[in-house]
Amino acid sequence: VVQPVIMAGGSGTRLWPLSRAGYPKQFLVLGDSNRSLFQEAALRLAGLAAADIAPAAPLVVGNEEHRFLALDQLREVRQMPSAVVLEPAGRNTAPALTLAALQALEGGQDPVLVVTPADQTVTDEAAYAEALRQAVRLAADGLVVILGITPDAPETGYGYIRTLPELGAARVAQFVEKPDLATAERYLSEGGYFWNSGMFVLRASVWMKALQTFRPDIAEAVKAAWAPRQCDAQFVRPGKAEFAAVPSESVDYAVMERCPGSEFDIRMVPLSAGWNDLGAWEAVWQVSGKDENGNACVGDVIAKDSRDTLVHSSGRLVSVVGVENLVVVETADAVMVADRSRSQEVKQIVAQLGKSG
Ligand code: GDD
Ligand code: MG
Repeated sequence: VVQPVIMAGGSGTRLWPLSRAGYPKQFLVLGDSNRSLFQEAALRLAGLAAADIAPAAPLVVGNEEHRFLALDQLREVRQMPSAVVLEPAGRNTAPALTLAALQALEGGQDPVLVVTPADQTVTDEAAYAEALRQAVRLAADGLVVILGITPDAPETGYGYIRTLPELGAARVAQFVEKPDLATAERYLSEGGYFWNSGMFVLRASVWMKALQTFRPDIAEAVKAAWAPRQCDAQFVRPGKAEFAAVPSESVDYAVMERCPGSEFDIRMVPLSAGWNDLGAWEAVWQVSGKDENGNACVGDVIAKDSRDTLVHSSGRLVSVVGVENLVVVETADAVMVADRSRSQEVKQIVAQLGKSG
C-alpha cells in the first residue's frame, strides 16, 4: 500500500506580505499557474495515482484554521482527500508527519508514505513520476528515501545531501539542514552535493521507529495527542492540550540529519523535473513569466526603465521607475520593498511583527 501525504500546515513567512497567517503561501496562486501550490501538489499526486504508483487518495495534514480553505481548494480541482488531520497549532513537520504516520497505520497495514510538501512546483510530470516509482520501490524494502535536486546556487534555505554514488542507489553519506552561506558555497564548489527537495518516501513504521530512536520526546508527545483524537466525517483532530505540549521540530533536524551512519539506511533518488521551491520572492520571480527587461509584474503595475524586478499588486496601482533587482509587493494593509537577493530575510520582518498577520 502506498499512501500520499500532503504537508500543508506551514506559515510561508518569507512570502509576506502576500502570505498571511490566515492565508499562507501554499494556498496562494503564484508564478504562472492558475492554481495554488497546494492544488498543484494534489494534482501531481493524482498523476501518480493514474500511473498506479500511489493509487490512494492523499492524506492531508494541515492547520485547523485552514480546514475549509484546504477542502474548497481540493474540491475545485476535483480531488478528495482520504482524511484531513488537523493540528490545533503548528509544531513543524516532524510532529505533522508523525500524525500522518499514525493515521496511515490505522488501516492495520504499514503503507509507504509519499510525503509531499505543498509549496513547490514541478514542471516535468513524467520525470517526477519515474523518480517516485523508483523511490517507492526502495522504501518498500524499509529504506528512508529522499528526492534530491542538483543545486545551481548556494541557497541557504535548503537541506544539503552528500551521496556515495559508487554504492549504487545513491547512499546518503551526510545530510545538513540549512547550512550557512559559507558552508553552502563550499558544498557547491566541492561538488557531489544535492538539495533536499523536501519529498520523502518511507514506510509509516520506519518513520515511527526512527523518530522514537532520535527524538523519543516528540514521538511520545504526539502519541499522547493522538490517543484522545476525535474523528468526524472528514477531519481527524488530535487532543488540543496534548498537541500544544509537542516540541516543535522539522523532519530534517529531528530525523534526516541523523540517519546517515545509523541503523536507518537512507538513500537519495535524483529528481530532475523542473523542481522549484517557492520559498522566497526570489524563487517566485524565477518561475514567473517576465517581460523583455526581466520584470515579472502581477496586477495593476507600470514598470518604466526597470530591470529584473518583481512587482505584485493586489489592489492599488504600483509603479516603479529606474529600479533593478527589487521585489515590490503591495497588499491592502502592507507594502514590502526588498532587494531581490535578500528576499530570504523577509522572514525576519515577520518575526518582528510577532505573527504573519
Ligand atoms: N502540517 C504541517 N504542519 N505542515 C507543515 C508545518 C506544520 O507545522 N510546517 C511546515 N509544513 C509544510 C509546509 O507547508 C511545506 O509544505 C512543507 O511542510 C515543508 O515545510 P517548510 O517550512 O516549507 O520547510 P522548508 O522549506 O523551510 O525546508 C524544507 O524543504 C526544503 C525544500 O523545499 C526542508 O525539508 C529542506 O531540507 C528542503 O531543502
Ligand atoms: Mg518550504
